[in-house]
Amino acid sequence: DIELSLRPENLCQYIGQEKTKENLRIFIEAAKMREEPLDHTLLYGPPGLGKTTLASIIANEMGVQFRTTSGPAIERAGDLAAILSSLEAGDVLFIDEIHRLPRSVEEILYPAMEDFCLDIIVGTGPSARSVRLDLPPFTLVGATTRAGLLSAPLRDRFGVHCRLDYYDASALCSIVERTADIFHVGIHKEAAIEVARRSRGTPRIANRLLKRVRDIAQVGGETVISEETTQTALRMLQVDGEGLDHIDHKLLTAIMDSFKGGPVGLDTIAATIGEESQTIEDVYEPFLLQTGFIQRTPRGRVVTDKAYSHFNREVPGS
Ligand code: ADE
Repeated sequence: DIELSLRPENLCQYIGQEKTKENLRIFIEAAKMREEPLDHTLLYGPPGLGKTTLASIIANEMGVQFRTTSGPAIERAGDLAAILSSLEAGDVLFIDEIHRLPRSVEEILYPAMEDFCLDIIVGTGPSARSVRLDLPPFTLVGATTRAGLLSAPLRDRFGVHCRLDYYDASALCSIVERTADIFHVGIHKEAAIEVARRSRGTPRIANRLLKRVRDIAQVGGETVISEETTQTALRMLQVDGEGLDHIDHKLLTAIMDSFKGGPVGLDTIAATIGEESQTIEDVYEPFLLQTGFIQRTPRGRVVTDKAYSHFNREVPGS
């Protein structure tokens, strides 16, 4: 499966996130020396930066099984109990979107994380009693878009916290070149730089854009992907010079046109452009904030002068 082989398998192959890699390398080595599982690890940051990949690398580096699930997939305490009781010693259990675990499930996770045991209620009514089951020691790796979405008690039970940041252009360029290699397709340096530059610092986006660029090169009979083809492809995909897509454009122009540049609340923007508030907050806003197209104020979101000039518009009141 080419999709899976895009994922690096160990820390050496993983490009970027240098600080996180340096920390993990030490914590993994120390845990292995003590023959203990790695401490529970929280990975947080915008979508597409490689949280799942890093979790699977942790399992690989520790030499244990990688088991995965997600917050929304675990509806009842029993679902989690079933997963936990099937773990083997040392396993990595990855819970994606861990901030979406129901509260009732979160509560059985606390003793599991802290004491490797499971408190379950057997029976109902007056005959109900609590039974304590031992679990094998394991490592929980949780992923979330923002650490602040977790309840404090859950957050505090992770011994290792890693924040993933948007990738810089040179790391992303290396990822694009690596992916092209795996696809057995050549790409000119300028073309790889262009894909990297317009991928919002996000490997998942870079790899997706590269696939479409490759399609267009292939249909055009091009053997090594050129910068010109890349430009054409990105235009067709409605990705602009800064990497902003159709939805970023809708979001920014809505604030300019309908709300005089803001401030305007998140839910109002969401209703205006017909996207989920949560998607805007997790996927679109972090990049627009980081790159200075919008700002957050106590009264809502405002677009910046940079946004007006990006759309060749005059800044109001200037
Ligand atoms: N593919 C996606 N993300 C990657 C990364 N950080 N390093 C190497 N290959 C990747």
